[in-house]
Amino acid sequence: MDYLPFISLETWILLITCIGVFVMYGKGTYKTFEKLGIPGPKPIMYWGTVGRHNAVHDKECARKYGRVWGGYELTKPVLAVMDPDMLKTILVKECLTYFTNRRNFLLNGELYDAVNLAEDDHWRRLRNILSPNFSSGHIKEMFSIMKHHSHKLTTSLQSKARNNEVITMKDFFGAYTIDVMASCVFSVDMDSTSNPSSPTPFITHLSKLTFKLNFYPPFALSAWFPIFLPVLELLGVSLFPRSTTTFFQGFVEKVRAERNGSSHQVRKKHTTRYFLQNMINTQAANGPTNKTQNKGLTDHEIISQVTMLLFAGYETSATTLVLLAYSLARNPEVMKRLQVEIDSTFPNKGPVQYEALMQMEYLDSVVSECLRLYPPAGRLERIAKETVKINGVTIPKNMLVMIPVYALHHDPELWPEPEEFKPDRFSKQNKQNINQYTYLPFGFGPRNCIGMCFALVMVKLALVEVLQNYSFSVCEETEIPLTMDPHGSVGPKNPIKLKLVTCSVDCN
Ligand code: HEM
Repeated sequence: MDYLPFISLETWILLITCIGVFVMYGKGTYKTFEKLGIPGPKPIMYWGTVGRHNAVHDKECARKYGRVWGGYELTKPVLAVMDPDMLKTILVKECLTYFTNRRNFLLNGELYDAVNLAEDDHWRRLRNILSPNFSSGHIKEMFSIMKHHSHKLTTSLQSKARNNEVITMKDFFGAYTIDVMASCVFSVDMDSTSNPSSPTPFITHLSKLTFKLNFYPPFALSAWFPIFLPVLELLGVSLFPRSTTTFFQGFVEKVRAERNGSSHQVRKKHTTRYFLQNMINTQAANGPTNKTQNKGLTDHEIISQVTMLLFAGYETSATTLVLLAYSLARNPEVMKRLQVEIDSTFPNKGPVQYEALMQMEYLDSVVSECLRLYPPAGRLERIAKETVKINGVTIPKNMLVMIPVYALHHDPELWPEPEEFKPDRFSKQNKQNINQYTYLPFGFGPRNCIGMCFALVMVKLALVEVLQNYSFSVCEETEIPLTMDPHGSVGPKNPIKLKLVTCSVDCN
């Protein structure tokens, strides 16, 4: 071995062993789907199929590999399922047995006990406590609060329309959404709509909770070396910054102090029960909590639920409104037809009533079609608690099952001309033929979106009030076609810019 003058034999052996271990570790899981006989894209060492692994790219995988395929998020195997029969089993039939939970990153920081991250009995308890906030009776109570903000929204758009200004739609719809959410959760009027282009601290803090999975270092480290996760947790590394929960904690304490300070009479005058008040009431009614029983929330749980509800509701609903405006501006015949329905339901720009709003068929078709084309949550996920076989496919214990909603909604076999905006797919007659497991903008089953009905009312109300007064129109600054941001939630990559045309008497 004289020809290896500078390195001893032992060092060479060590070096080669290290390289071998490095290579084997980097490819260690990549045989998982081959062994299970499940097709999928070829992974790259350590990197897996990331890069080609996002909600928009799922369409390509579905075309190549069918409705079940396997990919690798770095080194983590991910089973993609968009077969409707399998989805029925995963989301509904076996939800409470094998598929109750989403993945647990472990690095949840202070939000470890938020309803969307909680697991099993803890999740069930939180969900049971929160659910009454989203009953139709309670949403109806919230309707007058929503109307206060939708009215402000239409007023704030007046000067923009009059001056023929180019409008960044997210500024206005984002401000409306956060105002509604803040009022319904905290009973505070943020009044963001009066100054939509400068984001309130609420929006700034909520934006910090969005992390882009593929590019976030703690996420990458936890995927490559899960063994270090407990150490990272101990070091206080979190996917969600502590400053955000601290910010909302301050709010909760302020509202609680005001509530305690006010007299019984003043409290009685606040007849609308906002979410925070309902949560505090569960403490008073049931005493301190036991994590598995249906008892009141702890102080910490209240802060986590409040933060998470605002986060889960804000971006999704605001993006839906923005994309509705864009879709209507690009399809003026659909917009006209919707305005005819609005004017016949609420003649002479009359006040919007809850019951009538909920019965508007074409409005419902338009919103449904927008959520098909642009589902804000492009993917759902569940973890298999045990090894199970569904429709001949073996899903091993702890496998992450990913439901590619965006790809499902763009499957040409299920939705002919999938890229076209065609609300009539959801007309009364056509709706009956839609398999419910092929349309999942709010997920499905016991772990679906808790805020679905609330979101639909908030979105429909704003859309109707705006269309009573204005029409959307594309302008030079409108990006056509849209570039979608494939990471995180599905939405436009660049801000959507439109103009508004004022309706003199009615818009149809
Ligand atoms: C257009 C608006 C919205 C869309 C498209 C949407 C979509 C979704 C989706 C797809 C899920 C996952 C469901 C699943 O895994 O099966 C979800 C969960 C959730 N959403 Fe929404 N959402 C919207 C608005 C809201 C609002 C307004 C709130 C609250 C006020 C909210 C609160 C939640 C919560 C707390 C969860 C977790 C539920 C659980 O784990 O039990 N969402 N949402």
